[in-house]
Amino acid sequence: MEGKSEIRSGDAESWTVKRGVQVRLRRTQAQDGGALRALVDGLSRESRYFRFLTGGRVVDQIVDGLASPGPDGVALVIEAPGADGEPAVVASAEYVVTGRVAELAVVVADAWQGQGLGRRLIGKLRDLAGAAGLDAMRGDVLSENRRMLAILRDIGFSSRRNPEDSYLHEVSLALQAPARSAQSLPADWFAR
Ligand SMILES: CC(C)(COP(=O)(O)OP(=O)(O)OC[C@H]1O[C@@H](n2cnc3c(N)ncnc32)[C@H](O)[C@@H]1OP(=O)(O)O)[C@@H](O)C(=O)NCCC(=O)NCCS
Repeated sequence: MEGKSEIRSGDAESWTVKRGVQVRLRRTQAQDGGALRALVDGLSRESRYFRFLTGGRVVDQIVDGLASPGPDGVALVIEAPGADGEPAVVASAEYVVTGRVAELAVVVADAWQGQGLGRRLIGKLRDLAGAAGLDAMRGDVLSENRRMLAILRDIGFSSRRNPEDSYLHEVSLALQAPARSAQSLPADWFAR
């Protein structure tokens, strides 16, 4: 679906989205702070609410956290050419690690939603968390956020309404397949 222009270099990936523009996914850097502030400030009220649970201004500490996901955490952005032709950050995603579980969150600029960026970021976070040997991913998603819940279920997450807060769904995905002992394999396994 990403077309022939797919380019990979380390963790960075470039590809052409549905509207025909080339975008680039890469690790977030400390100097992305201003671009992340601009991304957050430019969000519609609904997107801001879905991601940050507020329709108002998102405090600096939270925006700073988008580039600083803590020990073992991962932060990613997607850049696309801005009006001036320079790369602009149009999406941000990260996970923070608690114990052996990665807690994820993602946001895509309104004008870029529906182009596959969110799905791509979540898939990349899942791959990186799995490669890091983490046990699982989890997240809290507003129950009315049908798009996010649909993408996550499609990727393999299970979801359930939070028993303590019906406005939230808890989503989770096991990353490491449980070890299978040789005894539990079918008798003809090695002959296949
Ligand atoms: C949720 C979000 C991250 C998804 O990213 P995105 O780039 O817009 O989504 P994608 O283009 O990757 O995927 C959209 C998919 O959702 C599906 N979808 C769209 N609206 C939907 C809806 N109302 N119900 C169910 N599925 C829906 C589409 O069919 C599409 O599937 P496809 O790829 O098979 O065509 C993005 O919309 C966003 O930032 N929203 C605001 C912030 C937010 O909700 N963040 C998550 C907080 S946990």
